Amino acid sequence: MLLLLLLVVGSCATAASAQNASFPDDFLFAVSTAAYQIEGAWDADGKGENIWDRMTHEHPDYVDDGSNGDVACDSYHKYEEDVEMIKSLGVDIYRFSISWARVLPLGDVSQVNPLGVEYYNKLIDLLIANRIEPMVTMYHYDLPQYLQDIGGWPNPVLADYFREYARFLFDTYGDRVKWWLTFNEPTSICMGYGQYRMKAPAVNAHGFGDYQAAHTMLRAHAMAYRVYDQQYRPTQGGQLSITLNSNFYQPATNSSEDIEAAERALQFNLGWFAHPIYTSDGDYPAVMKERIYNNSIKDGIWISRLPQFTAQEIADLKGSADYFSLNHYTTNLAEDGEQADQYPSHEWDTGVVTSCDPSWPNSSYNIMKVVPWGFRGLLKWVANEYDTKMGIFITENGFADTGEINDTGRQNYYTSYLREMLNAMYLDGVNVIGYTAWSLLDNYEWMRGYTLKFGLYHVDFNDPNRTRTPKASAAMFREIVATHTLPDSGAAMTSSHFA
Ligand code: NOJ
Repeated sequence: MLLLLLLVVGSCATAASAQNASFPDDFLFAVSTAAYQIEGAWDADGKGENIWDRMTHEHPDYVDDGSNGDVACDSYHKYEEDVEMIKSLGVDIYRFSISWARVLPLGDVSQVNPLGVEYYNKLIDLLIANRIEPMVTMYHYDLPQYLQDIGGWPNPVLADYFREYARFLFDTYGDRVKWWLTFNEPTSICMGYGQYRMKAPAVNAHGFGDYQAAHTMLRAHAMAYRVYDQQYRPTQGGQLSITLNSNFYQPATNSSEDIEAAERALQFNLGWFAHPIYTSDGDYPAVMKERIYNNSIKDGIWISRLPQFTAQEIADLKGSADYFSLNHYTTNLAEDGEQADQYPSHEWDTGVVTSCDPSWPNSSYNIMKVVPWGFRGLLKWVANEYDTKMGIFITENGFADTGEINDTGRQNYYTSYLREMLNAMYLDGVNVIGYTAWSLLDNYEWMRGYTLKFGLYHVDFNDPNRTRTPKASAAMFREIVATHTLPDSGAAMTSSHFA
C-alpha cells in the first residue's frame, strides 16, 4: 500500500514538473530592438534630427564611451539580414520601434519623409512574408528635436502631436501591424527631464519636469488608444498597449516600515503609469498623490508638483490597453528612508532607500543583478494589483555582458528567469501570454554606449559591415522556441522565495 502511494506521488511529481517546464501551445515568443539603438543612418534619406542625435553630438561626454547611434548596427541598410536572424530563431513576433523623425522629420504630419516611410514598409512586408508578426513601438526615447525645442514632453501640446503621429502610423501601417505599443518605458523617458544625464534630452528639472512629462505621455497614450479604438480597430482589428517597466522591490527586513517601503516603490514606479490604466479607480496611486502634495506644500509651493487629470482624462485612461506589456530585468531591496541625489525629486518623494543583496550574482551592468525569483514576485504583484485578464506580454527581459560568443551568463539568465515565469504561471495562476528577449543583437545601450551587450547575436562594431554572429544563447533560445520547453527540465522548479 505504502509502495503504491509512493509510486502515485512520484508519478504526479514528474507530471507536474514536466508540465511546469513547458510553455502552453499558444504561448508567443518574440525578440526586440529599438530604432535609435540599431538603425544608424541618422541623417540618411531625409530623416530629421532627434534628441539622441542632438545630445550625443553636442555632449559625447555624457556617454560612457563617447559614442552615439550614428551608425549603430546599420540596420537601416541591413534589415534583410536582421529578418533572416529573426526567422532563424523561429519566433512568432519581432518587436521594433519606428523612429518618429525618420517618417515625420519635424514631428508634425505636415511634412512626411517618403523614403523613411518606405523603410518601415519594406521591413514590415519582409517580416510578414517570413511569417513573423510585427509588434511596433511608436516611441522608444527618440523625440524629434523640433518638438524638444518647444519644451518636449513637459509641454502638454505634445499629446496632440503624438495623437496625430499615431493616426499617421495607423493609416500607413495599420493594415499589416496588429500589435501596437505607444510608449516604451515612460518612467525611463521621464529620466530625460528628471534625472540629469540619465537619458536625452538631459533636462535638469527633477521633481517637476518628470511628473509633467509623465502626465503628457499618459494623456497622449489615452488619446492614441481612443483614436485606434473608435476609428481603426473596427477595420484593422489590432491590439494596442503601452510598455511599462519595473524592478521588483523586496522589503529589506520584515519590519512594517520596510514592507510599506517596498509597496511604495512599486506604486511610484510601475503604479505611476499602471494605476491610471489598469485599475477601476483610475488616476495616479493614492500614495503618490498624498506624498507629492504634502512635500510640495511643505516646501511652500502653491500646488502639488504632481499634475491633476480632469475627470474626462481619468475616464479615457481607464481600460486604455488591450494587453499588459511589461519589461523586467532585476530586483532591489527596499528600506524606508530618504535617499536622493537631488531635491525635490521622484526618488525623494518615494521615500525608499534601495540596495542589492551582496550575494546576488552580477551582470556587466552594475544596476542589473541576476535575481530570477524577483520576476515571479513582480508577476504575482502585477496580477494581484491590476486587471490582467487580457494577458501579460513580457516585452523585454535580458542580460548584459561584454559581448562573449559563448555567453553562459546570458544562457543561465534566460533559463532561470523563464523558469520563474513558468512558476508564476503554473503555481500562482498569472496569465502570461508572451515573452520577448532583449535583444536580437548587440546594440547602442544609451548612456552606456557600446560598453554593454544584450544581444543573442554579436555585432562587430569595428567592422564597417557590422558583421553579425550568433552567440550560444541564440541556439539555446531557438531550441526553447522550437520545443516550447526549457532545457534541463528535470531541475527543481520551485524557487526558494515563493515555495
Ligand atoms: C530597456 C529599454 O527599453 C532598452 O532600450 C534597453 O536597451 C534595455 N532596457 C536594457 O537596458
